[in-house]
Amino acid sequence: MSNTQQRRILVTMALPYANGPIHLGHILEAVQTDIWVRFQKLKGEDCVYVCADDTHGTAIMLRAESEGIAPEDLIARVSLEHQRDYAAFNIGFDHFHSTHSPENKVLSQEIYTVLRANGHIASRTITQLFDPEKNLFLADRFIKGTCPKCKSPDQYGDNCEVCNATYNPTELINSRSTLSGATPVEKESEHFFFTLPVFTEFLKQWTRSGTLQEQVINKLNEWLEGGLQEWDISRDAPYFGFEIPDEPGKYFYVWLDAPIGYMASFQALCEKSGRSFDEYWRPGHNTELYHFIGKDIVNFHTLFWPAMLTSAGYRTPTGVNVHGFMTINGQKMSKSRGTFINASDYLDHLDPEYLRYYLAAKLSSAVDDLDLNLSDFVARVNSDVVGKVVNIASRCAGFINKGFDGMLSATCSEPELVQEFQAAKNEIAAHYEARDYSKALRQIMALADKANQYIADKAPWTLAKTDKQSPEVQDICSTGLNMFRLLISYLKPVLPTMAEKAESFLAIEPLQWNSVDSILLGHRISTFVPLMTRVEPDKVADMMSAVLASQTTPVAASNEMVEEGAPAIDSPLAHDPIVAEIEYPDFAKVDLRIARIINATHVEGSDKLLQLTLDLGVGADGKEVKRNVFSGIKSAYEPEALVGRLTVMVANLAPRKMKFGMSEGMVLAAGPGGKDIWLLEPDSGAQPGMRVV
Ligand code: MSP
Ligand code: ZN
Repeated sequence: MSNTQQRRILVTMALPYANGPIHLGHILEAVQTDIWVRFQKLKGEDCVYVCADDTHGTAIMLRAESEGIAPEDLIARVSLEHQRDYAAFNIGFDHFHSTHSPENKVLSQEIYTVLRANGHIASRTITQLFDPEKNLFLADRFIKGTCPKCKSPDQYGDNCEVCNATYNPTELINSRSTLSGATPVEKESEHFFFTLPVFTEFLKQWTRSGTLQEQVINKLNEWLEGGLQEWDISRDAPYFGFEIPDEPGKYFYVWLDAPIGYMASFQALCEKSGRSFDEYWRPGHNTELYHFIGKDIVNFHTLFWPAMLTSAGYRTPTGVNVHGFMTINGQKMSKSRGTFINASDYLDHLDPEYLRYYLAAKLSSAVDDLDLNLSDFVARVNSDVVGKVVNIASRCAGFINKGFDGMLSATCSEPELVQEFQAAKNEIAAHYEARDYSKALRQIMALADKANQYIADKAPWTLAKTDKQSPEVQDICSTGLNMFRLLISYLKPVLPTMAEKAESFLAIEPLQWNSVDSILLGHRISTFVPLMTRVEPDKVADMMSAVLASQTTPVAASNEMVEEGAPAIDSPLAHDPIVAEIEYPDFAKVDLRIARIINATHVEGSDKLLQLTLDLGVGADGKEVKRNVFSGIKSAYEPEALVGRLTVMVANLAPRKMKFGMSEGMVLAAGPGGKDIWLLEPDSGAQPGMRVV
């Protein structure tokens, strides 16, 4: 490094839960973090970026159980899927680990032991709701019942979505476990608590000394003023996690070992890269530590985490960088609205660099939400990246290649213009450093406009008409390509793939941040390769239809059904009063019958479908009528829980060949999907075969 000392920086982003796929919200966070890390690396800093899957907790345990596999197998599979998706978006982790790792177990137990020795672990007996059938203590989200305030049915254990009341799950009327349907009972057990209030003064100081955003400081002050509470860090068996030392049957709550996963991942990196763990995690070293997270998990990272680290004798973060939530066309990402876009949905249709650019163009250092407006997305990427940046190269390259055998001019004919591009370096760097990527890109695009203006003014194509080898043409196009090279250097943290293509077209070594200090003179470029093609609006539309289809087919979401050509129901309309009017004769064609589910099984290889055998009573010929139907209700029901229950089915739907066999009808249910899909109430008095009128 030249005169300044190389910084040593450790960067993390939030560890994605292993109970679901990577979605575009995760990608927002990953892109924000990756751009910052790439920028640091290009500048020559020693910056490393680690992440891991967050693998513990009840949700993962239950999901593995419903798939009939061990949690270890589930998290191994999901880890590969997560890493594949991040890699496709060019997220350059130095290491990706798992919280279910030996390193994390040792560190979690070590930290807990120190906390306990310091007197920062309390224990007491608490009463909680318990599912007597599943033999599980129930977290609030696994309890539903009628709101004690407004009496709306089907509300979660902690708050009512209708009247916004918050309450204790024990106050719910007619509460039931969403896992088994059983009525929960109250049960006592001993829990362990981290004594957070002891750290109030420390946290007040840390808030002021850390590099936190204004909005985060305000939130923290609110919490600190409001008074902190002890934090429950234990869960009872059965739980997928790490057992608490000396407390058989008690496990660390997932949020205790999750942030320790940052350390565990870094430790695994140390083993392969020879860095010193202590230099990054013990106090008193000249290293920086930044966590990138979303706004929903600020309390874990700015209260519990710094307090735990301090008690355990570790350093606290240099900064916690918080971003807002992604919305799609102004709406929350939601399965029932068809706006929940998984990374893989996007990758099936579109180039990942489009999204990297769009996100960067909208990201600031504030905690504000970021809207992915799809028509704006198409317009923005096409106009900026393709229309402005790529355009410079494609306008100039041909003349240099054809007229001058790829050779750029030996001197710079427009030193002032080129210097203006070079002089922007520090300001653009400051924007990247401050995570004000939108400002950085605005400045880069203003320069791109200048470059295009220059080329348009000089119109090399007019000169080339009379003399293909006019030195003026060579000078103009060399200047153009030099400006292009400078722009690509500035864009490289955002568009690494495009930068790589540009490097090979320009026949240069990989660009660094300081590469802008020099320019290319008397250098031979290679032939032009297309750097990025326009975003096709059709592809965006295709993605959105695929997303809608996979999330909102009747009877919940079954990709498999859609692959087989069933029409998708446009579910954003599902909550509207009228979807599309039909005449009575259309309706009369649908033969709706009551059916009893007499058998239900998992479908090998499908994570959405259950295979149902339906009893439709006795037909006109006196024979029993049975049907085989594949139904996408696996997310809401265990097969065993369905046997014996009644449902309404479309009895005269033409049989349809699906990936897993023939489906002879369709089961009707109501609800937005996921865990919320309702069949008829059991024992409503209806009988198999009855016509629904
Ligand atoms: N496992 C925890 C984090 C543990 S960190 C020690 C978790 N996982 S998560 O998968 O739910 O979320 C991971 C990150 O994605 C979080 O920072 C969260 O804020 C972020 N996002 C989840 N949905 C998001 C959007 N819609 N938009 C932007 N980021 C969002 O929380
Ligand atoms: Zn209510």
